[in-house]
Amino acid sequence: MEISGARILVVGATGVLGGLAACALAERGAQLALAGRNQVRLAALARDLGGPPARCFEACDLDQCSALGPWAERALSGLEGVLVTVGAAGFGTVENVSNAMAGHLLTVNALCPMAVLRGAAPVVADKGFLLAITGGVHDGVAGAADTETADDLAGTADYTASKAALSGWLSVLTEELAPRSVTVLDIRSPRLDTGFTERSLTGRPPALPPGADARQAVHSLLDGITSI
Ligand SMILES: NC(=O)c1ccc[n+]([C@@H]2O[C@H](COP(=O)([O-])OP(=O)(O)OC[C@H]3O[C@@H](n4cnc5c(N)ncnc54)[C@H](OP(=O)(O)O)[C@@H]3O)[C@@H](O)[C@H]2O)c1
Repeated sequence: MEISGARILVVGATGVLGGLAACALAERGAQLALAGRNQVRLAALARDLGGPPARCFEACDLDQCSALGPWAERALSGLEGVLVTVGAAGFGTVENVSNAMAGHLLTVNALCPMAVLRGAAPVVADKGFLLAITGGVHDGVAGAADTETADDLAGTADYTASKAALSGWLSVLTEELAPRSVTVLDIRSPRLDTGFTERSLTGRPPALPPGADARQAVHSLLDGITSI
């Protein structure tokens, strides 16, 4: 897909990867709509990018999430793509993670992206794309190597479960949207240097090697979109 001129919604634009993606897309000539939780940072990003439409949302309000795609489609008079970069980290052995926290991780990491894409699917153009970031399901935390053992995964059950849920859902969506040639991208990102795991809502992340360069990863991701 040609990014220049494409109308693209970035959900989670106030995060590190979302912000990098929004800036890189703007540099490549996309017409953006931005959605983020933090009103002040969202307004600052929109200012930096020349004032695209921007809307605040809360991931736990799933109806708000589903409304983002139709809003962007109206604001941009069309929609060729959606990137969802929302996510939250949380760690701890299963007995140390509360049910409330487990529910929150599932909501932010799985139900929110699913709700965004559920709302966007009917309005995204044929031959468009829908993208979410899962990190490798078997990668433990945000992309450790595939060779990690069960021991290495200790303390990541709820995070891993939330990303696995999203990944499974995306694989079915891929089939459902194939007749319209809408590409569903499940980005199983390796660990990146965004500080994501340090913002854990509960517990501490396992010891992990340094993350890869996030800026470079975002450019590779956009190159992937170009080759759809
Ligand atoms: N960095 C990595 O190593 C890595 C690897 C694999 C996958 N991922 C995935 O990539 C995504 C982005 O990660 P990142 O590194 O860019 O982290 P980040 O900077 O912490 O971004 C997370 C985003 O999610 C938003 N968010 C969290 N809770 C929310 C809520 N309740 N309502 C609305 N928005 C909420 C944050 O909003 P605020 O800006 O308001 O905080 C932020 O925009 C996540 O899904 C993560 O799991 C990251």
